[in-house]
Amino acid sequence: MQIVKTRKELKKLLASWKAAGEELGVVMTMGALHAGHLGLVEAASKDNDKVIATIFINPKQFDNKNDLASYPIDTDEDLRKLKQAGVDAVYLPQAGEMYPEGYSTTVSVAAMQDCLCGATRPGHMDGVTTVVTKLLIQISPDRAYFGQKDFQQYLLIQRVVRDLDLPVDIIGVPTYREEGRLAMSSRNRRLNEAQRKIAPTLFQVQNTIRDLVLQGESVDHVLEWGEKVILEAGFDKIDYLELRSEENLTLISETATREAVMGSRIFVAAWLGTTRLIDNLSISR
Ligand code: PAF
Repeated sequence: MQIVKTRKELKKLLASWKAAGEELGVVMTMGALHAGHLGLVEAASKDNDKVIATIFINPKQFDNKNDLASYPIDTDEDLRKLKQAGVDAVYLPQAGEMYPEGYSTTVSVAAMQDCLCGATRPGHMDGVTTVVTKLLIQISPDRAYFGQKDFQQYLLIQRVVRDLDLPVDIIGVPTYREEGRLAMSSRNRRLNEAQRKIAPTLFQVQNTIRDLVLQGESVDHVLEWGEKVILEAGFDKIDYLELRSEENLTLISETATREAVMGSRIFVAAWLGTTRLIDNLSISR
């Protein structure tokens, strides 16, 4: 597995692959890898001749300084896991390489941002779409793989690629779950033993909401019930628990048609102490 740290090294490596006609898949990460990331690598390996992973803790997508300061870093272990997973190369750019002195451009999608994490984490989504666009331009892969746990991020990246005519296929990979069906996240490492026992409530509640909505129960009442259960289980705060269209994130409420409900997802973000967990679940699948 090759490790490249500068754009110059990256360019050289990519040129040799392109010359050999290899199809390339990219898996972008901020490190602290878990089985969900390795699932993205597995999907990329099936579709492509070469797979490159990136590890870059993107300062522009952290709306909270403490979250950035406490973001888990374990690069040696990450590299070991990527090598074992069969990744061909890892790109490890430095912040100065990505955002040189005087950097002043933002890629911002003017849709699907005023809700969910876009609303509760100001600047976060612009930070994500900016870094992902830069990495797509630097790497120019055939395919890029993103986990559907960050579903809003996935939709926004798809929109950037469509609107800017970037020649890459964006592939969404279903959420990997731990025992208890807690969605895998690098932030799960921060949970203590007691919080770990509470965390799976998020999945259980979404699952029950899905069943009740499919049985025709009132969407508003079911979501109200869900909030109560999450807080009673021991979560400290809920940022959102909502039903939204999985195509464009339009809010699905009481008056929505059956068709709109069937094309929706439950989205949740809630805090356990200083750790914010997110998850989502499709109503129909
Ligand atoms: O999902 C993530 O880990 C990040 O948002 C990403 C896509 C690597 C951009 O920094």
